[in-house]
Amino acid sequence: MLCLAGFTQSFAQISVSITIGDASGIRISKHIYGHFAEHLGRCIYDGFYRNGKIRMDVVAALKKIKVPVLRWPGGCFADQYHWTDGIGPKDKRPSRVNTNWGMVVEDNSFGTDEFLQLCQLIGCSPYMAANLGSGTPEEMQHWLEYLNYKGSTTLTGQRAANGHANPYNISFWAVGNESWGCGGNMTPEFYTGQYKRYASFCVDFPGSKLKKIASGGYGDQYNWTETIMKNIPLDQLWGISVHYYVFPGGWEHKGSATTFNEAAYFTSLKKALYLGEILDRHSAVMDKYDAAGKVALVIDEWGIWTDVEPGSDPDFLYQQNSLRDALIAASSLNIFNNHAGRVKMANLAQTVNVLQALILTKGDKMLLTPTYHVFDMFKVHQDAKLVPLKIETSYFKNGTDSLPALNASASEDSGGVMHISLVNLDPGKAITVRLKDIMNKYKTVSGEILTSANFTDVNSFENPGQVVPVTFMGVRKVVGECAVVLPPRSVVVLELKQQ
Ligand code: AHR
Repeated sequence: MLCLAGFTQSFAQISVSITIGDASGIRISKHIYGHFAEHLGRCIYDGFYRNGKIRMDVVAALKKIKVPVLRWPGGCFADQYHWTDGIGPKDKRPSRVNTNWGMVVEDNSFGTDEFLQLCQLIGCSPYMAANLGSGTPEEMQHWLEYLNYKGSTTLTGQRAANGHANPYNISFWAVGNESWGCGGNMTPEFYTGQYKRYASFCVDFPGSKLKKIASGGYGDQYNWTETIMKNIPLDQLWGISVHYYVFPGGWEHKGSATTFNEAAYFTSLKKALYLGEILDRHSAVMDKYDAAGKVALVIDEWGIWTDVEPGSDPDFLYQQNSLRDALIAASSLNIFNNHAGRVKMANLAQTVNVLQALILTKGDKMLLTPTYHVFDMFKVHQDAKLVPLKIETSYFKNGTDSLPALNASASEDSGGVMHISLVNLDPGKAITVRLKDIMNKYKTVSGEILTSANFTDVNSFENPGQVVPVTFMGVRKVVGECAVVLPPRSVVVLELKQQ
C-alpha cells in the first residue's frame, strides 16, 4: 500500500478504529446533496438572478459541486405563490407583496421558465413546491399541464410562446410546505385529506412520472409521518418531507453566526447530531406501513439557523458561515448517507445569501463558504454504494455532557473507488483513526482536509481563502493498516484506489 507522507502535529491525541464492511446494496441517492432556493431576502434576486439575468458565476460554482436537485419557490413562500404571476412578458407580470419575508414587493420577474432555465444551466433536477395553502387543485393541475403536457392546449401554447415548446417533464412535486404552520396551520388529519384531494388532480402526463412528496412534520413530530403513512395510499406517495434546523440558542435567541464560545459550539453540534435519532424514528414509523422501504424520507429543509448578520434586514435571514457550520454540514451528510436506505433526498437551506448558504454575494462579487467546500468534498458519494462502517469513537465533554467526537460514512463508486468522509468534532484534540482490514484491497490513499485555527473562522470578501480544502497529509502506514490523523475540528475525505 502506498500511503501519503507522514504528518507532524502537536495536538493531544486519542486513538480509535473504524472497521470497513463490504459495499451494501444501498445506493446513496445523489439527491441527498440537494439544495433549496426561496423567494426570501437576497436568495433569488441578487443571489441567483441579478439585473434581469441568471448569475453565471453562481451557476458555475454550483455545477462544480454537481448540485443534483434544486427546490423552489419555497418554503413558506410556496403557499402564497400563484405560478401564473411569474410567466409571460415581464412588463405584464403583476407585483405582489411577499407577506412571509419582509413585506417586500415581488415583481415576479423570476418565475417558472427562469427557474427551469436555471436548473438546466446547473444541470440539476427541479423540485417544485406547489401551493396547497392558498391555491386550488385547479391551479396545481394547470401548472402541471403547463410544465409536462406534450400536446397542444392554451397552456402549452403559452409555454411555447414563453420559449419552451417541449414539455419540461418535471418529476419532483411537493404538495404544500410546512402545512402544520405557514402552509395553513393544519392538523395532520386535515392535511392528509387535502393531500388526497389535491394529489388526485396532479396527473402523470405521458413521459413524465410525478414523484409526489407530502409535507410532513418538523423534527421529532413523528405523528405527522404516522398520519400520512396511515391515511394516504402508498401508491399516491413518493415521499414524506421533514424539516429540521439547528437553532444554537433556541428559536428566540438563536445566537451569532460568528461570535460564540465552546459551550455554544457544543450545543450546536449536539442539536445537529440529534438528526440521527430523528431519522431513525421517522424511519421506524415508516417501516410499520412500508416494510419494503418504497416511500422516501425527504429532509427538504435542514441546516443551522443563527442570528442575521448585524446591520442586515432581520427578515432576510442573511447569515455568515463558519467552520462550525461546515462541521455540521459534514456530520449531517454522513448521517444522511448512513440512512440512505430510507432518505432519498435532502435540501440544505438555502443556497445563496440565506441561512446556511453555500454562496454569499455582494454586488457582482461572490464568496464560497466553508459549507460549500464540504459539498465539494462529499460529492464523490453521490449515487455510490453505501459501505457500512463500525466506528469506535472518542467523546468530548462540555461540563457533564459529552458528544461522540468522530463521525464517518463511506461509499464505493462504480469504478470500485472507495471514499471515506471523516469528521473530528473535538475542538481541541486530534484523533488517530486506524482503518482496519483495508490492506488487501486498496493500494493508494489520498485525501483532502478542511479545517482552520478556530471553529468561528469564516471566509469573507476580504479573506475568501481562510477555510478552504487542502491536500491531506495525515495518512500513515502502520503494520497491516492505515492510521489517519484527524486534527481537531476537521473534515477529511479519503479516496482509496485498488490500483
Ligand atoms: O427556510 C426558511 C423557512 O423555514 C422556510 O420558508 C420555511 O419552510 C421554514 O420554516
